Amino acid sequence: MSRPGLFITFEGIDGAGKSSHIEGLAAAFRAQGRTVTVSREPGGTPLAEKLREMVLNDPMDALTESLLIFAARRDHLRNVIEPALARGDVVLCDRFTDATFAYQGAGRGFDLDVLSTLERLAQTGLAPDADLMREPDLTVWFDLAPEVAAERLAGARVPDRFEAQPVEFFRRVAQGYADRAAAAPQRFARLDAAQDRHRVWQQLTSVFVRKGWLAIMVASQGGPQ
Ligand code: TMP
Repeated sequence: MSRPGLFITFEGIDGAGKSSHIEGLAAAFRAQGRTVTVSREPGGTPLAEKLREMVLNDPMDALTESLLIFAARRDHLRNVIEPALARGDVVLCDRFTDATFAYQGAGRGFDLDVLSTLERLAQTGLAPDADLMREPDLTVWFDLAPEVAAERLAGARVPDRFEAQPVEFFRRVAQGYADRAAAAPQRFARLDAAQDRHRVWQQLTSVFVRKGWLAIMVASQGGPQ
């Protein structure tokens, strides 16, 4: 019996702790027999990973940044996400288009209407239904106060162009995520990312159990080490 693919994205400001939970979730899905594709944005294909290096490190204006991010996204959708969904995989993607609205839109103050236009261009015409604009089935939002995230990130590694931004930038990005979540409450699941890792894992898996996508037994095993 073939099951439909699931497209799940993970969002939050830098330091919110989302990445460490994605592998655990992949293991939980695999434990109940699903094939899982784990990926990230910007990135996920050789071309998109090259664009990621530029976006994270080279100086550029907000339009150039947005164009490169959507170019990377289209290549990723075309070569990884759509084929995986067509096979019936669970696709777990670390960031997607909500990050563009939060970082480039709210954070950098770039025009949201232009972002919507780019979104339509980049995300349409790739699915079996040619008119479909691909969007996640579920977006898990790791909500954390920017001040707490900054403390967690302090001294962790050499910061990229985004991590090097002041806390006010991340306040705007966090508000951008809150606005996106308010506009699409049926797609977003908010987690309180200020809690310890185990509690965040419990919140995360209970979202999937409620949706009927993970069995309680599978969800209660595993989690962060
Ligand atoms: P990561 O560190 O979570 O992999 O994300 C890379 C950085 O890229 C992160 O600081 C957020 C930023 N970013 C954007 O500014 N816009 C986007 O659309 C995406 C996907 C990421």
